[in-house]
Amino acid sequence: MTARIIDGKAIGEAIRQEVALGVEQRLAAGKTRPGLATVLVGENPASQVYVKSKQKACAEVGIESFGFELSKDARQNEVEKLVRELNADPKVNGILVQLPLPSGFDEERVLSAISIEKDVDGFHPLNIGRLAQKGRDPLFVPCTPAGVMYMLEKEIPSLEGMNAVVLGRSNIVGMPVALLLVRANATVTICHSRTRDLASVVRTADILVAAVGKPEMVRGDWVKPGAVVIDVGINHVDDATKPRGYRLVGDVCFEEVSQVAQAITPVPGGVGPLTIAMLLKNTLHAANLRD
Ligand code: GUN
Repeated sequence: MTARIIDGKAIGEAIRQEVALGVEQRLAAGKTRPGLATVLVGENPASQVYVKSKQKACAEVGIESFGFELSKDARQNEVEKLVRELNADPKVNGILVQLPLPSGFDEERVLSAISIEKDVDGFHPLNIGRLAQKGRDPLFVPCTPAGVMYMLEKEIPSLEGMNAVVLGRSNIVGMPVALLLVRANATVTICHSRTRDLASVVRTADILVAAVGKPEMVRGDWVKPGAVVIDVGINHVDDATKPRGYRLVGDVCFEEVSQVAQAITPVPGGVGPLTIAMLLKNTLHAANLRD
């Protein structure tokens, strides 16, 4: 079997167009332009790139972005004070604190300071708590997990009763994806570094979500024929044949797994574009919650 390639770029573009239309409709109705504040602490190069692409994407759909950069030597209180000021700023509908924060910061305290109505990343403990509970709904779903679910729901008419395996249990991806899959009535197994006989657990998956940050860890013979595979990993591997000296690969060995799976996301061009599209969608949602 040769897998269908899920085109994240095209799906992300369609969502961005919907958001751009939503922004136009707000403006036509005399409402405010949605605004997103990004907070970057320190100089992590990957975080700098991510924040820049988020700001650029905002501009493309008509969302205003307000960038704030603090030194890695900033105090915990300074970051929290900035967040509180942004909570009170009516031009700001969404607040994104780029993670990870430099070592020494109490991430949970910073995230808890964000007003839940502006928590477009969905990482506030209250939003995550609501995601984890039956009969409750978060105001916002974290962006990458929302993108993963969007792709799965497009691929598979109903996830009910399917065996889903999530590789990785991070706060940003693995755990919220697992919670969303449970909410979609899948039977969910979460695997991590202590899981025994990982390959045979992965082999039970009708749906596999890989988010461990280990280049090409999932091999062809780990995957059940016909599975749908979502690869969240973005790993740099040295490659002297490339102008930049490296190439990007996922957590899944694409060459092998695409021979076995029914559908698979590529890296790059799979989940990545959906993360940003969902952030834009959440920011528009935040504005619409207010007026
Ligand atoms: N770091 C990696 N992914 C994300 C994300 O979706 N949001 C934030 N704030 N930080 C991240």
